[in-house]
Amino acid sequence: MAHPIGIDFGGSGIKAAPVDLETGKFAAEREKIATPKDATPDAVAEVMAELLDRFDDKSSPVGVTVPGVVRHGVVHSAANIDKAWIGTDADALLTKRLGRDVHVFNDADAAGVAELRYGAARGHAGLVILTTLGTGIGSALLYNGVLVPNSELGHLEIDGHDAESRAANSVREEKDLSWEQWAERLTTYYTKVEALFSPDLFVVGGGVSKSADKFLHLIDIETEIIPATLFNNAGIVGAAVITTEAD
Ligand code: BGC
Repeated sequence: MAHPIGIDFGGSGIKAAPVDLETGKFAAEREKIATPKDATPDAVAEVMAELLDRFDDKSSPVGVTVPGVVRHGVVHSAANIDKAWIGTDADALLTKRLGRDVHVFNDADAAGVAELRYGAARGHAGLVILTTLGTGIGSALLYNGVLVPNSELGHLEIDGHDAESRAANSVREEKDLSWEQWAERLTTYYTKVEALFSPDLFVVGGGVSKSADKFLHLIDIETEIIPATLFNNAGIVGAAVITTEAD
């Protein structure tokens, strides 16, 4: 079978690559185009079409990640993206525009599946919670290898605040928080998630997981917490995996 292609729709870039499902590695160089300023569904679909044109394979299945709730291909939330996504049947729109079988998933869910299959969560039974720390906070709940989609733990209300508005990596950057200051906020966040779910393991993803040695040991919780290993590739890889399993 041709390698499935994963496309990751993020706040700054839209990135795509074919994925070798044996290894979880890219089967060709990743392609990237900056996210358009008005990232409406149509504008994003255009960019995705342009990205797909860059790959030789014109028929492989495509998996797409979106930073919002996605149920059966329909986007239901848009915390950090154009509100026009809400109510959009992204599966249908992209299948039509890209002319091939496309399935759309939540970005953190895709990252969780990738980490479970090829990365940090591999071989871990029980409840694994992956969180992505980026523009927002994404989450994937994985129980004995099965994904419970759309957990949205970045929007837990903690001390009257939407959790991601206090503890996302974008907040650390905007407020110029030290690693220590940020880790305090993360401790508050993970303590809450820990109390609600009693997970066996936290995996921390998102681009900042590359700097895990700067802050992870400062997070004071009981649950084991480890960095993701696929970094920013996890969304692409996970989307490619799940799309081959979707009907
Ligand atoms: C969205 C989630 C998404 C996360 C990370 C949150 O604001 O609600 O759906 O997974 O950001 O992008």
